[in-house]
Amino acid sequence: MLRGNKELWWALGVGILITAVYGAVVFFTREIPAAGELFGHGLGIIGFIMMLMTEVLYSMRKRTRNARWGRMSSWLQFHIFTGLIGPFMVLFHSSWKFNGLAGAVTLLTIIIVFSGVVGRYIYTRIPRTTDGLEIEGSVSEASLRQARQLMALWHTVHIPIGMALFISAFIHIGAALYYSTFLK
Ligand code: HEM
Ligand code: HEM
Repeated sequence: MLRGNKELWWALGVGILITAVYGAVVFFTREIPAAGELFGHGLGIIGFIMMLMTEVLYSMRKRTRNARWGRMSSWLQFHIFTGLIGPFMVLFHSSWKFNGLAGAVTLLTIIIVFSGVVGRYIYTRIPRTTDGLEIEGSVSEASLRQARQLMALWHTVHIPIGMALFISAFIHIGAALYYSTFLK
């Protein structure tokens, strides 16, 4: 079971910290950090690594079903934390220009985060153990079935969006590095 909102508070705190650092950089350099220069580029790389961790780690833990690797609920909390902070850093990387493919990657990133928030809401409507297993009989059968159906529908939407996002992100990274880093 996901108890409390610890991961959301952590994400809020770290988000405020990143905003403060970004604000300080804008204040002292008197310009918006460019996506291809040290600070903006660094935000893109670290943010993207966090997004990759979000995509891969929780699914790996879910499939091992091995409690030695830590609780499923903790992995989901970590998934939500990196799933919020990674995209937030990548947004600062964009330098607020959303043209072409990079713009589409940003849009897909925003969509997956919103979809994740909706998924978290549905997920918490199904009572579970700390290892994510559903607990039978604690809510009415009808509302449990409805939440399960919603969760299944949500998975069929969320997972392809994630895949489209990573395919387009890899193309953006390849093209951006080729044209603006190596050809400079
Ligand atoms: C999901 C992750 C990412 C998103 C949503 C994203 C989005 C963007 C956006 C919106 C821009 C601005 C485009 C413009 O100037 O019109 C940009 C530029 C750029 N991005 Fe990313 N980015 C991501 C990850 C990365 C990563 C991981 C790298 C490097 C390894 C990278 C390298 C670059 C570079 C070098 C530029 C500058 C291109 C130029 O100056 O023309 N991006 N990105
Ligand atoms: C970069 C952003 C994100 C990516 C790439 C991503 C990707 C994924 C993937 C691939 C799954 C399927 C896991 C599986 O069943 O194997 C998943 C599940 C889930 N994600 Fe995310 N996610 C992101 C952000 C978020 C955010 C921000 C939240 C919540 C605020 C969230 C909440 C959830 C929940 C509740 C599940 C369902 C867990 C389950 O059914 O076991 N995600 N996500």
